[in-house]
Amino acid sequence: MALPNFSPESWIVYATAFILIPILTIIIVIQSYSQRKLNPREPTVLAPAIPVIGHIIGMAIFGGRYIKNLGIRHRDLPIFTLPVPGSRIYIVADPSLAVAVQRASKVLSFTPIIPEVTERVLGLDAATMEITRKNLDPGPGEERGFLADIQDMVYVQLGPGSYLEELSLAAAHEIQDEIASVTTQPTSPIDLLSWVRHLVTVSTAKYLYGPQNPIAVDPSLETSFWDFDHGLGSLLMNIYPSITAPKAYLGREKLSAALLVYLEAGLHKKGSSIVQRRVEIAQQHGWALPAIAREELSFLFAGIVNATTSTFWILVHLYADPSLLASVREEVQAVLETPKLDSTSGRARLYLTDLRDTCPVLVAVYRECLRLGSDTYSTRLVKQDHILANQYFLAKNSVVQIAGGVIHADSRIWGEDVDSFNPKRFLVTKEGGVGKENGGVGGVVKQKQNNAFHPAAFRAFGGGKTLCPGRHFAMNEILAFVALVVLQFDMKPAHGDKIEVPRKNDGVLPVHILEPVCPVEVLISRREDSVARKARKAKFSM
Ligand code: HEM
Ligand SMILES: *[C@@H]1O[C@H](CO)[C@@H](O)[C@H](O)[C@H]1NC(C)=O
Repeated sequence: MALPNFSPESWIVYATAFILIPILTIIIVIQSYSQRKLNPREPTVLAPAIPVIGHIIGMAIFGGRYIKNLGIRHRDLPIFTLPVPGSRIYIVADPSLAVAVQRASKVLSFTPIIPEVTERVLGLDAATMEITRKNLDPGPGEERGFLADIQDMVYVQLGPGSYLEELSLAAAHEIQDEIASVTTQPTSPIDLLSWVRHLVTVSTAKYLYGPQNPIAVDPSLETSFWDFDHGLGSLLMNIYPSITAPKAYLGREKLSAALLVYLEAGLHKKGSSIVQRRVEIAQQHGWALPAIAREELSFLFAGIVNATTSTFWILVHLYADPSLLASVREEVQAVLETPKLDSTSGRARLYLTDLRDTCPVLVAVYRECLRLGSDTYSTRLVKQDHILANQYFLAKNSVVQIAGGVIHADSRIWGEDVDSFNPKRFLVTKEGGVGKENGGVGGVVKQKQNNAFHPAAFRAFGGGKTLCPGRHFAMNEILAFVALVVLQFDMKPAHGDKIEVPRKNDGVLPVHILEPVCPVEVLISRREDSVARKARKAKFSM
């Protein structure tokens, strides 16, 4: 019996009929199923291109950029639903809805997520996790758990008041000392981000953990710290981290071992009082020292990483634009030369409050760098079915994320030039203004009122219950750092004839202010004028 004689064409017909059509049918069925709303009031569902797992794959490959691009492409949607296997992610892309999420903090809560994250990232043991999960969200009069106690303390200490001033001054002096000891070789190229990293890491470790902190004792731990930072996303995945994220894992283990030695020796008694309070609270809740060492790594991390990257961006933008740099120098120099000499030492005084209040261009550059650099997501777990803002159904056990990156890229909020660096958007200027086109400060310049933009549109510090407790401190510290650098250093490009501002790498999990896609290499030299000398020795005041 002869076999039917299939020509190549008929193979295609058969293959189409028996293989492709059924597969396509399945895909279409799954797609329309995954586009279905759980409730008529659920936000618009965006089905993934690859059924079921598409969004997860997108996030794994493209990092934070995946959701940001979806939000930008669907600009008309203030909130939308991403179906993922077994759950939903609701993306909030509108400041008013962000406020509604922040207000509903009992139902849309961040606290249940904290233990999951810290367990993985810090490698905490089971006994510690049991303590941490107790009384997470205490109501009035209920017993308070470890997290509630430590957060209360940190928010109070770093809120406006005398301790904030004390710590800000301590930080400014440490930074000043570190900068004073910088040696410059005007002919050898320096990677600006590494330069800032070193200065911030060493000084933060000192003002928080004292002169005998682990990094001061063993400088090789500075590399361990940044290894840990760069593998945070992989540690969060927590799939055999010692194998899948060996550098980050090793960095974390080395640092927490060193912090343990430090705590056992009682050296934190010579550190800041906020660190001493943190250790006490952990001990009161029954934490063992090895776990406290790991927990402190997270505080050191919070103090270092965002301050580093924001300072880097501010310096790049200033040194890339000579007229902007000139405006900022002029403002800062005026603060330094306000004739309020210290009566005992005769040193010039640098008032931190004046950097905040009388340097509008500096502050505008700071805010604009944070706007452009932070694609932060504020994440909340939906504890019960909830109707958000009387309008949108959110299903129990799904996740809500306020997408800072989408809100920061919204031209309806920030104007048509939303994608460019333009500190003027935070300034009220009269004729002339500041920056490239106009050459320095012209006319009267002052900060725009805080209410010039929607109060929840600036997301660099998060918002609601998870608003960064360190935000006042960070501003004091970063402005002091930048003021000291602009008065004491010149920078030229190592290659080419002008410093180019690189793009930011938004293809990662945005755990902190985004880093540049490529290094910025500069030649740094000291300014030797009288202003530079005054700045080097100035006494900081509030
Ligand atoms: C420009 C610098 C900084 C930025 C942009 C920033 C941003 C943030 C953001 C967005 C969060 C909230 C995270 C979330 O919602 O999941 C946060 C939390 C936190 N930040 Fe900052 N931060 C900065 C500097 C600092 C500094 C210098 C410190 C400490 C000295 C600090 C201490 C903290 C702490 C302790 C938390 C956790 C609060 C909690 O327990 O919920 N931050 N930060
Ligand atoms: C740092 O800033 C980014 C962007 O604003 C934010 O997503 C992140 O949670 C912050 N991290 C810490 C440790 O403060």
